[in-house]
Amino acid sequence: MKQVVQAPPALDGKVSPPGDKSISHRAVILNGIARGDSRVSNFAQAADCLATVACMRSLGVAIESSKGGGLVVGGVGDKGLKEADDVLCAENSGTTMRLLAGLLAAQPFFSIITGDRSLRSRPMDRVIQPLRLMGAQIWGRSSDSRAPLVIKGGQLHGIRYTLPVPSAQLKSALLLAALYARGDTIIKEPVASRDHTERMLKAMGAKIEVKGDAITVSPSRLKAIDITVPGDISSAAFWLVAGVIHHRANIRLSNVGINPTRSGIIDVLNAMGANLTVTNERTVSGEPVADLRVQSSQLSGIEISGELIPRVIDEIPLIALAASVAQGKTVIRDAGELRVKETDRISNTAKELLKLGADVQELPDGMVIQGRKKLRGAACESHGDHRLAMMIGVAALVAEGKTEIDNAEAVNISYPRFWQDLKRLSAAKS
Ligand code: S3P
Repeated sequence: MKQVVQAPPALDGKVSPPGDKSISHRAVILNGIARGDSRVSNFAQAADCLATVACMRSLGVAIESSKGGGLVVGGVGDKGLKEADDVLCAENSGTTMRLLAGLLAAQPFFSIITGDRSLRSRPMDRVIQPLRLMGAQIWGRSSDSRAPLVIKGGQLHGIRYTLPVPSAQLKSALLLAALYARGDTIIKEPVASRDHTERMLKAMGAKIEVKGDAITVSPSRLKAIDITVPGDISSAAFWLVAGVIHHRANIRLSNVGINPTRSGIIDVLNAMGANLTVTNERTVSGEPVADLRVQSSQLSGIEISGELIPRVIDEIPLIALAASVAQGKTVIRDAGELRVKETDRISNTAKELLKLGADVQELPDGMVIQGRKKLRGAACESHGDHRLAMMIGVAALVAEGKTEIDNAEAVNISYPRFWQDLKRLSAAKS
């Protein structure tokens, strides 16, 4: 599907972003292996999370849709999963594949898990190697670095392990395996990544302790809990950036998760000079939530690197866009992980922003952007990557002339209503 977008005179309105993708995956997986039924409200009805639902159903978990887009999950308990009678498919979802790899390594049965072409090209050795240290029998293609993964589940034992890359998917895979392992598992994170799994495990009664950069997990059984999923800050981020770069914008975002391990985009935009307010801060299902308001702003360039990177990892293409129209230079470093996301997001962000007239130079682990460029519409390509499709859609809101986005349906991976929300905000009277 091709989407054509033109800059509107104004952007105005209210958006409730879809449920958080990371939390939705975890709510279904953890409640699936917990004891009892649970309700998951505001579940992200997006392709990635539906892939997790399909896999959990194939493993014997009853999951029903409830009114208002929620789910009812029939937890089967720690010993209740059943061998699937076919290959599991994680589609485009790295979170589904990596978290399930950890879970399936500890089950007393055989599994194969595959994914689409993008997922089959992404690194899986990062989960295979530490799971093997726990005693897992797990293999992948191409010297164990690519899916499909073949897993002969069995008894695992605890390990001490320091994550070589800041990855919440890897950390969560090991936390899931640790629930079933003999003895304690101690995971060290040199740089903090999103902590939704730790929060949810604690709320479900798992024996988990977080002290400094170390997480200790002992074998545990989980109690099912009802979860209200907050709005996804990674989806809200598109409107935050649209609001600050459009010259006549006033956008209100309600019910947005602002977990500090995810909220780097707010800090980065504030440091660039954004007109952004955070109100009504509260806690929902153990996660911090707030309402946000963003208005047209004069942005300046920024340097970002180090510990900030995992807190903005999915928003970096958008930061590159904001930097393109900001005053001065922006440097993004330590973000080499972007090259192994759904696509190579360093190369593809630079490629598409260059087509739109921006000045972006690739670094091996980031980008250098010279700002103050007037963007002009162009024929762009999502590369099948949801976050690139949406970043280009936002760029088009400030570009001169028409922008065409090919493969625009990629938004269905995390934000199926994205193009409708964009039209609604653009229809505001100037
Ligand atoms: C996610 C973790 C991040 C993020 C992805 C979702 C998660 O990936 O980019 O969109 O839900 O745990 P990594 O763990 O590979 O950094």
